[in-house]
Amino acid sequence: MKLLDRKIAVIGLGYVGLPLAALCAKKGYEVVGLDLSEPVVALLNQGKCHIKDEAVEQLLATAVASANFTATTNAEGVADCGVYLICVPTPVDANNDPDLAPLEGACRVIAPHLNKGDLVVVESTVFPGTCEQVVAPLLEELSNLDVGKDFHLAHCPERVNPGDPFWGSENIPRVVGATSSEGVAVAAEFYASILGGDILDVRDIKLSLRPKFRETSEGLHIAQVPLGSVTKMHSIRDAEAVKAMENTVRDVNIAFVNELAKISDALELDVVDIIDGMATKPFGKGPFYPGVGVGGHCIAVDPEWLKAASKKAGYMPEMIQLARMTNNGMPEYTVSILQDLLNEKGYPVKGTKIAVLGVAYKRNVDDPRESPFYKLREILQKKGAELSVFDSWVTSENTVQSLDQCIGGAKAIVIVTEHSDVTEKLRNFDLRDSDVEVIVDGRNCLDGNVIKGQDVLYRGIGR
Ligand SMILES: NC(=O)c1ccc[n+]([C@@H]2O[C@H](COP(=O)([O-])OP(=O)(O)OC[C@H]3O[C@@H](n4cnc5c(N)ncnc54)[C@H](O)[C@@H]3O)[C@@H](O)[C@H]2O)c1
Repeated sequence: MKLLDRKIAVIGLGYVGLPLAALCAKKGYEVVGLDLSEPVVALLNQGKCHIKDEAVEQLLATAVASANFTATTNAEGVADCGVYLICVPTPVDANNDPDLAPLEGACRVIAPHLNKGDLVVVESTVFPGTCEQVVAPLLEELSNLDVGKDFHLAHCPERVNPGDPFWGSENIPRVVGATSSEGVAVAAEFYASILGGDILDVRDIKLSLRPKFRETSEGLHIAQVPLGSVTKMHSIRDAEAVKAMENTVRDVNIAFVNELAKISDALELDVVDIIDGMATKPFGKGPFYPGVGVGGHCIAVDPEWLKAASKKAGYMPEMIQLARMTNNGMPEYTVSILQDLLNEKGYPVKGTKIAVLGVAYKRNVDDPRESPFYKLREILQKKGAELSVFDSWVTSENTVQSLDQCIGGAKAIVIVTEHSDVTEKLRNFDLRDSDVEVIVDGRNCLDGNVIKGQDVLYRGIGR
């Protein structure tokens, strides 16, 4: 039986696994999704989505209509599959060291069901070497089969960007690596069958696209790789490193613009105008923007995995360490701005009502993992502030039911997340009708001049 005729198992049905499982079902594969969470599985089997994301909801509806997708918590449900896609979390522990437990748990589930010719793909983000040092030995030991000889092991890091209206699981270009050349060919063929794009080789990209990238811009470079294409890497470690490093590059750059924001504050410059000015240069730049902090399960975590692997191999990457420290320190910096403004108005932090807007780690998503909100709240609570919290996407931390209630009676607003519905309302809100005298815009999303025109002190991050 050909691999592409086989049933697919997706292990972990979160932000990554669910859209992937639904996409495979949409493309005609029979898919079984396995998750530890009973409530998640029960919802999915009713065709309801536990993730608030229109694109994922649509994909799930199509998958359910195709009758190709079922979810289960029963590990036996993944028997008789030919392709196993691992999409479990890869967090860090309290010491910021990689926590491999969910990944190892997924391997333990898959191994007893593995047969000759099967394909196992790790989509979770891991440090370079994880597939060969952790996943392969565990699968081999528990299945009595040999990786590369009896079954294929590949890594195809997920790049999905929740809340992104354009880039989704079906069109984001992918890279794939495997422990053997046959494995990478099989995995690339599988991904081409769900993404519908071309299969490329990383060395061809260098030859055909890089000169154009040098001449033009990063944006054009991205566009020149066809939508939904799959690029074969020359080792599984290269594929692992692509993901860990692309997110680390982002983290370090955000840390650097956070530094530029602090310089701009000291020199009384508007860092957002300056970044927008720099962005007019059509090559060799970001742009990246500063803010209240970096969150999410990727940018705030993946650099720690890369750092841990590098440290273990004998090289301590100081720049990554510094970037993490800088980005982790941004909630404190934001509070220091708030304190300055309240001071100017003659209010102590202690006992003053402060409206904190946003819990999610970024705009228009319902994901609060690693959000700077938690650190900011902790600092303000320790200082005795009277906090009201509102987020229109993540409601778990809300102390009130609405934006109006949150702002009501508050002397200051701190914006942590710029969800479009909330910023839209804020832009149309006349602050003179409220008690608000201070706004700290942790996402630089409001027009400071309009706010200052309403006799409210306004500061962004670096502006
Ligand atoms: N969220 C993103 O934007 C994003 C983007 C790209 C890559 N990634 C990476 O993808 C991976 C998954 O992230 P996510 O955001 O989808 O996580 P998530 O927490 O949203 O989903 C993971 C799911 O896996 C389940 N699970 C955990 N252990 C399991 C096990 N042993 N067996 C079966 N199910 C298990 C959990 O119950 C959960 O529903 C991570 O490595 C992450 O770094 C995430």
